Amino acid sequence: MTSIFDLSGKSALITGASSGIGSHFAETLTQAGANVVLASRRTRRLKKRAKELKNPHTEISWVQLDVTNRDSVEAAFHETATLFGRIDIVVNNAGIASQGLALETTERTWDDVIATNLKGVWLVAQQAGQHMAADSRGGTIINIASILGRRVMGGVAPYAAAKAAVEHLTRVLAYEWARHSIRVNAIAPGYIVTDMNRDYLESPLGEKAKLKIPQKRFGRPEDLDGPLLLLASDASSYMTGSTIVADGGHLQSSM
Ligand SMILES: NC(=O)c1ccc[n+]([C@@H]2O[C@H](COP(=O)([O-])OP(=O)(O)OC[C@H]3O[C@@H](n4cnc5c(N)ncnc54)[C@H](OP(=O)(O)O)[C@@H]3O)[C@@H](O)[C@H]2O)c1
Repeated sequence: MTSIFDLSGKSALITGASSGIGSHFAETLTQAGANVVLASRRTRRLKKRAKELKNPHTEISWVQLDVTNRDSVEAAFHETATLFGRIDIVVNNAGIASQGLALETTERTWDDVIATNLKGVWLVAQQAGQHMAADSRGGTIINIASILGRRVMGGVAPYAAAKAAVEHLTRVLAYEWARHSIRVNAIAPGYIVTDMNRDYLESPLGEKAKLKIPQKRFGRPEDLDGPLLLLASDASSYMTGSTIVADGGHLQSSM
């Protein structure tokens, strides 16, 4: 029996695929049968990951992408569309962290975080929307938000503001683009151990934070596979504008 999560014949672009969640998602989508393009700024890492994921059943490629730069976003989509003919799935995952109390946050930090985590998500989603709207079959866009866009925590003001905005942008785009058969949903992960936060999560402060999570553990990128495959596949054909929280129950203990 074919799985309802089967992605055979579909093509996907994943931003921020050079490490962490995006790099793992490339494997998940490949194993589900999709052809995948990995995108980010560090091309050496992309090339290595694409080589690791090479297999006889699907196409894997990579493209350099800076999500803060419109020309770069357009070029990456053009290259992906040229390679695969069309783009069915876009995982809008690239992001950077911010650290520091709001009173001390510089304008530069604010601008950098908003440029990547909000404007970048917008630029990628708009390009995805334009490509998908031009094809009557539409597509699915998955934005990566965060529980920090919902719960309140000190030291992450620009990051939290951007992630809250990503959730609402998801709803607005879902509303506008349903007429083009484009679904727009989000995943809001809790703490997932990656390069972005490993130092903090493995510190004594991180150990304390872990105790507040009902499941008493941090997440792994694999913990997001279920939400990803659901939103990427036709299994979620009646879902749009939704955000799936995957956080070991963290939000329940901090609202
Ligand atoms: N880890 C968590 O606990 C957690 C929780 C909630 C949400 N998230 C979100 O999950 C996403 C992935 O994060 P991660 O934890 O996997 O962190 P990560 O390992 O640091 O990965 C971040 C990725 O984003 C890419 N990136 C950063 N700026 C970019 C730009 N301007 N253009 C293109 N790519 C860019 C990086 O690639 P290059 O440097 O090669 O460009 C990298 O591949 C982020 O949106 C993050 O906010 C993470």
